[in-house]
Amino acid sequence: MPKRKRKPKNIPTSDVSNEDDIVLRETTPLQLRYYGDPVLRKRAEPVTEIAEAERQLAVQMLETLYATGNGIGLAATQVGVLRRLIIVDIGEEDDEEYEPLVLFNPEILSAEGEIVADEGCLSIPDVTAEVKRPEKIVVEGIDVQSKAVRIEANGLLARVLQHEVDHLNGVLFIDRISGLKRQLLKDELLRIQQAERPT
Ligand code: NI
Repeated sequence: MPKRKRKPKNIPTSDVSNEDDIVLRETTPLQLRYYGDPVLRKRAEPVTEIAEAERQLAVQMLETLYATGNGIGLAATQVGVLRRLIIVDIGEEDDEEYEPLVLFNPEILSAEGEIVADEGCLSIPDVTAEVKRPEKIVVEGIDVQSKAVRIEANGLLARVLQHEVDHLNGVLFIDRISGLKRQLLKDELLRIQQAERPT
């Protein structure tokens, strides 16, 4: 999910490499998949083991996110990997600095309230729409150190977590707006679908 421009940031390798046995290689950003790519409509498979390859993928996804300049979240599906992994970094929000989040097999355990806010997606560039979602959620998952974590989120964090979990189920934010509103975005969506991109 994209957001306003923010200052570039170094990859927080310290957060994912503070165990002696975790060695991270230098990586390059991965190729993002865009609207129209069938992979975005597929359901991702659970991650059964978190080994070096999985940790490396998480770091590559963070690099890919930071390379966008305005991204705040990414699902593995968006880089063509159908495994249940999301990363989120909302940076500073409401005067609070949030840590980057790596979550394998995220599950939304509960949701309450309802709130409408503008949403976009790195896989659907330059398209935004108001989307209604639960306001507060509880999410469980496994972090990069293979530890179970539970996150109580509201505001932007709750929104981006729901958006990224949707990706793992092949769901896009434009599926959550009315047919009429989607009709208004038809030309934009067609443009994205037909854009020529390096393969
Ligand atoms: Ni997205």
